[in-house]
Amino acid sequence: MKIYAVKISEISKEKMDELYELIDSEKKCRIEKFINTKDKIRTLIGEILIRTIVIDNLNIHNKCISFNKNQYGKPYLESYPSFNFNISHSGEYVLCAIDDKPIGVDVEEIKPIDCEGIVKSFFTEEEFEYIVSKELKFSLNRFYEILTLKESYIKCCGQGLSIPLSSFSIQIDQSKDIKVIKHNEYTQHAFKLFNIDSGYKVAVCSISKEICNNIIRLDQKCLIDKYTGVNIE
Ligand SMILES: CC(C)(COP(=O)(O)OP(=O)(O)OC[C@H]1O[C@@H](n2cnc3c(N)ncnc32)[C@H](O)[C@@H]1OP(=O)(O)O)[C@@H](O)C(=O)NCCC(=O)NCCS
Repeated sequence: MKIYAVKISEISKEKMDELYELIDSEKKCRIEKFINTKDKIRTLIGEILIRTIVIDNLNIHNKCISFNKNQYGKPYLESYPSFNFNISHSGEYVLCAIDDKPIGVDVEEIKPIDCEGIVKSFFTEEEFEYIVSKELKFSLNRFYEILTLKESYIKCCGQGLSIPLSSFSIQIDQSKDIKVIKHNEYTQHAFKLFNIDSGYKVAVCSISKEICNNIIRLDQKCLIDKYTGVNIE
């Protein structure tokens, strides 16, 4: 298992156009439709990141990389069933986790949003109790811990929101051990929370017993240079 993170920064129009030619046309069309430049950059960097990882790990030529999606939209690499990956992006960060078993990653920028409605609609009583401390003070930090953990679980399962967010419960015990309970039983999933930057929460969910301890940080420019370099060779 490996987890990668890229902190995004501006990309010139010329570079964006150059990179569009090195990804598949469907993804290019989707990115071009975004109005927000950061949405374009996050999605483009996510695509370049996973393509670079695939090239490095599986020794496949970029042109031969073919992604498909399951019925709920979870992307997978065609012809390589034991190569599992998942991408997440928020704010300034793009994350990608890879493993030989299903994996889910979620990054969220912590924003002071009105979470109470979300908690009431989508979180379980136990999760509510974790978020609201003994003094009945709402913790935004804990809200985002539960939110990213729930999202990472949904993303690991790959069935999107056909799994209602309230149909399972995240349990974080005193020693910060994280488990998920579904239909009154613990599932086999492992979880980890990462502090990638102040103002962000990252959660990873895996079927593997152990989740790695570190995130590999890649510089955006180095990633782009490497990707374009590989494609010139
Ligand atoms: C699409 C979804 C899987 C994740 O959405 P998200 O948290 O907004 O987005 P993230 O940045 O974490 O993940 C996006 C990536 O997940 C991947 N993805 C898409 N569908 C997926 C699925 N069914 N399962 C796993 N991964 C999926 C894609 O690689 C996508 O990247 P791309 O847009 O660059 O192609 C889904 O869980 C969702 O819609 N969540 C929103 C839930 C919600 O409404 N929460 C608020 C109430 S608590």
